[in-house]
Amino acid sequence: DWTMAAFRQEMVQKIRDQVGSGKVICGLSGGVDSSVAAVLIHEAIGDQLTCVFVDTGLLRKNEADQVVTLFRDHYNIPLVHVDAGELFLGELAGVSDPETKRKTIGKLFIDVFDKEAAKIDGAEFLAQGTLYPDVVESVSARGGPSAVIKSHHNVGGLPDYMKLKLVEPLRELFKDEVRALGVELGLAPAFVGRHPFPGPGLAIRIPGEITPEKVKVLQDADAIYLEEIRNAGLYDKIWQAFAVLLPVKTVGVMGDARTYENVLALRAVTSTDGMTADFFEFPWPVLGKTATRIINEVRGVNRVVYDVTSKPPGTIEWE
Ligand code: XMP
Repeated sequence: DWTMAAFRQEMVQKIRDQVGSGKVICGLSGGVDSSVAAVLIHEAIGDQLTCVFVDTGLLRKNEADQVVTLFRDHYNIPLVHVDAGELFLGELAGVSDPETKRKTIGKLFIDVFDKEAAKIDGAEFLAQGTLYPDVVESVSARGGPSAVIKSHHNVGGLPDYMKLKLVEPLRELFKDEVRALGVELGLAPAFVGRHPFPGPGLAIRIPGEITPEKVKVLQDADAIYLEEIRNAGLYDKIWQAFAVLLPVKTVGVMGDARTYENVLALRAVTSTDGMTADFFEFPWPVLGKTATRIINEVRGVNRVVYDVTSKPPGTIEWE
């Protein structure tokens, strides 16, 4: 009978059979899928695996550090950390159209990844955390780094790493199975249970132009929101929760002074696959406490609103 432990053993053997003594490159996004794929492949072939983590500077607060700590220090997996935040923010300067943001990020991601992959001498294989729903097309339909890699297969003028053979050990699995496999491999349940996060990251949660200052404000506010959700024991009841920094200023009062700062929107939805979603019915005190903390602790935000739009007609992301 089928168990995750048996699947793990079987996959380890399959990876060894496919790869032999070849070298494998794995793109780490910080997400659950690529993390589980990397740990599984590392178990199979050890240091024949090198992970490449392109840090776009558009991840949640502290997430880049967590990825580096987990893989390099805890699992001892060879990891190239490309700190490309300045490059991405530079290219995104002045860009406010959502699809242009996605294209800019997707293209840059491939350029950076390709350059790093080319430095890994003699690599023959590219590992991806492709899941069964990706194979039949779903959540990543709007693109983003991971989706871009998948959708370029049959196009002429391939980037160099596309000449690599694919290793996709999660191809037969659904998300919940990947999470179970992650736990089986020793990843923390809190790590594998994290909400989905889009490839373009915080760029599509800052409507209008993106600046380093706005990214910082959003990261800080978003971290408080998630902390309050966890404290209230609600994290696992929600499909995705995140903050959106609006390009709108409103008037407020702080002590004796008038303030004129940005509005922050909070979003939380329930869903089973991201295709449809309902807004999450928070207990009001959780939202109230979150709003108070954000306004007190984050300079640059003086008003917090909650998005009560479901999908359809809204999308989960604001862009
Ligand atoms: P929407 O906003 O279309 O989102 O309702 C559905 C799911 O897809 C994620 N999403 C993306 N993921 N690149 C990605 O990798 C993208 O460009 C992108 N846009 C949306 C979104 O977070 C949600 O899980």
